[in-house]
Amino acid sequence: MEQPSDGAALNAVGVEPAAQLKFYPDGPLLVRGDFEMIGRDGNPLPRTRATVALCRCGLSAIKPYCDDSHKLSRFSDVPPADAAAPTANEPKSG
Ligand code: FES
Repeated sequence: MEQPSDGAALNAVGVEPAAQLKFYPDGPLLVRGDFEMIGRDGNPLPRTRATVALCRCGLSAIKPYCDDSHKLSRFSDVPPADAAAPTANEPKSG
């Protein structure tokens, strides 16, 4: 892997990542690094922590942030085993 002058690793597309997104299993999307969040109204959202947890379950009362509501629900980010299989009611692509 190619290295920039400061020793940081380049990613698969050849750029030095400014931020890291990590999908917490059955929980939020954790975002770390240098990034800005823009709200629905186009204005920057406040950021007070180095790592931000963004809700993926849709149940948080403080969206877009995670409030741990996913723990009380049965939220799972694992698709059902047959989710990718087309059903009789779905048109086939192609
Ligand atoms: S992912 Fe945590 S409240 Fe939705």
